[in-house]
This record gives sequence, C-alpha cells and structure tokens, in this order.
Amino acid sequence: MRQTFQVETRPTITEFLLREQRRVPAATGTFTAVVNNVRLACKRIAHVIGQGALSGAGGTAGSQNVQGETQMQLDVLADEIFVRTNEWSGTLAGLVSEEREEPIQIPEEHPRGRYLLVFDPLDGSSNVDVNVSVGSIFSVLRCPDGVTEPRARDFLQPGTRQVAAGYAIYGPTTMLVLTLGRGTHGFTLDRNMGEFILTHPDMTIPASTREFAINASNERFWEPPVRRYVAECIQGKSGTRGADFNMRWIASMVAEVHRILVRGGLFMYPRDTKDPAKPGRLRLMYEANPMSMLVEQAGGAASTGRGRILEVEPTSLHQRVPVILGSREEVARIESYHHDHDAGISPPSAPPLFGERSLFTKA
Ligand code: AHG
Ligand code: MN
Ligand code: MN
Repeated sequence: MRQTFQVETRPTITEFLLREQRRVPAATGTFTAVVNNVRLACKRIAHVIGQGALSGAGGTAGSQNVQGETQMQLDVLADEIFVRTNEWSGTLAGLVSEEREEPIQIPEEHPRGRYLLVFDPLDGSSNVDVNVSVGSIFSVLRCPDGVTEPRARDFLQPGTRQVAAGYAIYGPTTMLVLTLGRGTHGFTLDRNMGEFILTHPDMTIPASTREFAINASNERFWEPPVRRYVAECIQGKSGTRGADFNMRWIASMVAEVHRILVRGGLFMYPRDTKDPAKPGRLRLMYEANPMSMLVEQAGGAASTGRGRILEVEPTSLHQRVPVILGSREEVARIESYHHDHDAGISPPSAPPLFGERSLFTKA
C-alpha cells in the first residue's frame, strides 16, 4: 500500500513577497528585503519571548524610555534585536523606535537604502511576565528623495504614505500579519521549518460586531461621545442598541487588533482628560498608523473619533493619538456621536447611566 504524506504547499512569506514583487516590473527587490529582515527580527524576538523565564530576561530593566515609561528587560532586548537585524541590510536610510527618543542612524560601515522603518519592538510588555500575548508593530515609509541622514522631520509622514505595515504576535502561536497595500494577510510560524506560512489570506473584518474593547477603569476621563457609546453597549437588549454586547480588555494592542482581524470587534483607546498634555495613550507613528493600515486593508475603519487616523499629519515622533478601530459600522457610529457632541446635538434619549455617574454603579 502506498504511504501518503502531508506536504505543506501553502506559500511561505518569502514566496508571497516574491509574488507581490513580480507584480511591479520595475521592482528591485529592496522592498522585499526590508520586509524579509523585519520577519527575521520577529522570529528572533519570538524565540526569546517563547523561552519565558528560562531566558533570564524577565522583569524590569531599571530604566525609563523617552515617554517616562518603565522599560522591561525584554523591551530593551527586542529593541536591540530590531535594530541589529535591520540596520546592516542596505535597504534602510534610518529607523525610529518607541524605545529611543531620536531616529537611529545607519552605522558608517553599512550601506544606506531608500526606506524608513518605524517600530514598537515589544507591544503590551506589561503582559510579558504573566505569559499573555505580546507583539511587535512596524511601519515602512519611503525616505524623502535626496535625504541620506534622515532626521525626525523626514519620518513625519501621514499614515497614508506607509508602503507596508504589520505586526508579529507572540501568543500560543507566533503569527506575522502584513499589508503591502493589497489586503491584509496572516502568516503562522511553523517552528519546525522556521518559516512563516500563509494561513490567513485576505483577512476581513465583518462590518458589524457586538464586541468592544476599552480600558473601562478610565471611564471618568472619557469624553461624552465615548461614554454614550459604552453606556449603550452595556445596556444591551434593554437599551437603544437592542442587543447584548461583550467586552474584552487584554492590554496588548496587538492581541486586541488580532482578535478583531480574525472575528471582528471594536477597539478603543480614546482621547481622555487623564493627562491634558496627551490626547490619547497610543502612539501615532508606530502603533496607530500601522494598525490602521492593516484594519482598513481588511475592510475595517480606524478613526480618532473626529477623522481618519491615517490622515493625521504627524508633528513629533512619539506623539499620541486617540484610537477607535475595527468593524466599520461601529466606528461610523462613534464618529457620529463625536460629530453630534461637537455640534451641540444631544442624544435622542440619553441612556440612564449616561452622564456623571459610573457605568457600573446601580442608580
Ligand atoms: P507598550 O507596551 O508598547 O508601551 O504599549 C502598551 C499599550 C497597548 O498595547 C495597550 O493597548 C495599552 O498600552 C494598554 O494600556 P493600559 O495599561 O491602559 O491597559
Ligand atoms: Mn505598544
Ligand atoms: Mn512597546
């Protein structure tokens, strides 16, 4: 009897990239090489994260980053891996990391390329010691013509100018989710082959959802449109929405966006009044913009509440922005609540818990 073998025939990420490259007759392969190197950095980080406490790299690093946040040892290590893996390739003109105040220059000994890489080396790092999914987020931009030593202003391009964006999620499986501007595609790391395999082509976010994610402990700092939206969701069937909603909060943007790309939903880290100097928690250049491109390419929407995130003109490398993204009907609803609020139009019937009182305190 003939033995049958299971042969993996789905494309690897390298095959996928080369196929995409062939669509552009003038392509030199430089762009393919950029993404290929990012993929290697993510595999290296996945390896360290996967070792957990065995790696000896747990806990805090005893330092703060430019944003005054406590750095974990793994934040520092993941940043180092990203920089070392990508700086030598000859494809990049410069890099920007969440963990470093200024742009990273390409060392003298390496050739320079035409692209800029902006990244959050480890997202959700407060979760790393408790073995919850974390990730890396990246955005690829073109270096302005004639610039060989890019400064901050050369990176300050709106998200619409991204040529690629993606994230790696280090969870029960490691995945890389990528867009080159033609759909959003998910690749699962086959640990035996050491290669990412295309397992989730053309990821699509359903237009409607009954699931939302927000850090509800910030409720007292939210603006009225967000309070209104969440209050209506919590009222469920008995409220104006006429349907029960489910809530999630993982505190890893990568894990929240991944859930939304797989089964739909809504994620919010909206503008709040916690710190008036910060119009939100998440950073535009290496969190909001790449995630917004992935979400839009999957048929979802990404908004500040008052406009498309991808059209925000950046003014500084580490600036923050309100983020509302996911299923497009819900994003449109929240935008309309912001619009009504700004125009002084009151909600038709203010929900009983809408207003000054807590959402979770019974009247
Ligand atoms: P980072 O670990 O890169 O600093 O990002 C953490 C972000 C994001 O992943 C998550 O959505 C959010 O911070 C969590 O915020 P809370 O601590 O308010 O839950
Ligand atoms: Mn982050
Ligand atoms: Mn981070």
